[in-house]
Amino acid sequence: MGAFKVTRVQTSPIDGQKPGTSGLRKKVKVFVQPHYLQNFVQSTFNALGADKMKGATLVVSGDGRYYSKDAIQIILKMAAANGVRRIWVGQNGLLSTPAVSAVIRERVGADGSKANGAFILTASHNPGGPNEDFGIKYNMENGGPAPEGITDKIYSNTTTIKEYLIAEGLPDVDISKIGLSNFTGPDGQFDVDVFDSASDYVKLMKSIFDFQTIKKLLSSPKFTFCYDALHGVAGAYAKRIFVEELGAKESSLLNCVPKEDFGGGHPDPNLTYAKELVARMGLSKSDNNADPPEFGAAADGDADRNMVLGKRLSYFDFRFFVTPSDSVAIIAANAVQAIPYFSGGLKGVARSMPTSAALDVVAKHLNLKFFEVPTGWKFFGNLMDADMCSVCGEESFGTGSDHIREKDGIWAVLAWLAIIAHKNKDNLGGDKLVTVEDIVRQHWSTYGRHYYTRYDYENVDAGGAKELMAYLVKLQSNLTEVNNIIKGIQSDVSNVVNADEFEYKDPVDGSISKHQGIRYLFEDGSRLVFRLSGTGSEGATIRLYIEQYEKDPSKIGRDSQEALAPLVEVALKLSKMQEYTGRSAPTVIT
Ligand code: G6P
Ligand code: ZN
Repeated sequence: MGAFKVTRVQTSPIDGQKPGTSGLRKKVKVFVQPHYLQNFVQSTFNALGADKMKGATLVVSGDGRYYSKDAIQIILKMAAANGVRRIWVGQNGLLSTPAVSAVIRERVGADGSKANGAFILTASHNPGGPNEDFGIKYNMENGGPAPEGITDKIYSNTTTIKEYLIAEGLPDVDISKIGLSNFTGPDGQFDVDVFDSASDYVKLMKSIFDFQTIKKLLSSPKFTFCYDALHGVAGAYAKRIFVEELGAKESSLLNCVPKEDFGGGHPDPNLTYAKELVARMGLSKSDNNADPPEFGAAADGDADRNMVLGKRLSYFDFRFFVTPSDSVAIIAANAVQAIPYFSGGLKGVARSMPTSAALDVVAKHLNLKFFEVPTGWKFFGNLMDADMCSVCGEESFGTGSDHIREKDGIWAVLAWLAIIAHKNKDNLGGDKLVTVEDIVRQHWSTYGRHYYTRYDYENVDAGGAKELMAYLVKLQSNLTEVNNIIKGIQSDVSNVVNADEFEYKDPVDGSISKHQGIRYLFEDGSRLVFRLSGTGSEGATIRLYIEQYEKDPSKIGRDSQEALAPLVEVALKLSKMQEYTGRSAPTVIT
């Protein structure tokens, strides 16, 4: 029982502390500057209000990236000094972003306490290490990211801050050991409770899915499975859930030991960065992997994103990629039958604007409420808090439901396993399982297929990117000219019938979000969308989303890059991509 005093440290504002879509993300070198983290944390406490912090219970943890351990000790000392009553820390400072959300909503302390909010220490899918990124964001009592009203206040506080409070005489707390430490300060008792990172989350997953049915699938000799955590925090959950609870073989887990630098990799689950998983699934004929797993999945650094792959032993390559846009549509179409949590029906479904319209078609067929929101999970959170949405997803490899207020990488994989288990429930003894590819093709033949691809131009000159966007907006005022340009590039694509900048009025709080992406909408349902990324830490990233709807069952089996080639050409030439960015090719294609 150590005693501490409160010291007021003089400081001054530091530029550039405006939180982006998902908190403040900067290079570690920026974060370690004197007072940098402290200014942001104190600005957050001040934004939430001193009276709210007194006696509060906060969660502090993250994806375990480099600088997390130091940051946790700093936040503990600042929280104590600001009168916070107790802090919950996942063992070793590890909690996935969805687990933080679950802990805020579900965990009850030994004394009946509930969390008021959380500092999540992550830069999501950005690389980690001394020369890479660190990040911090605040989540509220509902388990979701702080709304713009709060993040704006935090930012404005960072521009005027003069002092922060820190506990003097509070020792570093050993966060590697589960247990409670008590201290005493001017405001009374302060506790640090280090708890198991996985148990609350595992309990929640077991209340949503039928683990017995999934276990039957995973332990069937015909079903093989592979999960790649890319050395992110998903590893802390994968062994507990997939191996210990569901009976997958330990060899199914790839890169499941969380590392501060993600093993030097880029912890983003896509076909470019999840290299080992893609290789294990068998990348190409020349790389013939005789018996690739039936099902493969990956997560990003903080385990809120997911990628789903299936085995494919035909055609021209050896893995079957489920686009995130198809994934949410397929989960929505099968949720009620396959996932007990949804057995009473779906309250509604939602997708972000650049996500393909595959979900729209399902919503229409099933007569479900449907919402198209701007990019960013907070918009779904509002709908969910108002009981208007059960399942939602984004093209950026985020899928989730109203069980928490963040997207959830492991939940998405469990949802897929539940669907596969459901489709095979009378078939586990048969000759051949219904595969991921079968499920997706079946879906396409019922609902039509949305060919979809995304081109990313990472870290381009910010000025050039802005000019390109301004040019595309200007072009929208004259659709005749747009269609003339397009006909000159590709005569057989359909006509642009509408073009705008996406704007959203939140049906719950009435707030309006403008400039959420530039859209070109074609007569046949095709779309081109251009957006600047809100999550980069350097330069600008242009994202180009290309989509084409095909209802004719005889035309749904094409390779997507091949099917989309004419529209891609139109997009690149119409936007003068090379001229504005100096790039002849994108950094990543998904
Ligand atoms: C984060 C958010 C997602 C969002 C994504 C967009 O991951 O949590 O909700 O879709 O950022 O990233 P971008 O780089 O396209 O702005
Ligand atoms: Zn993430």
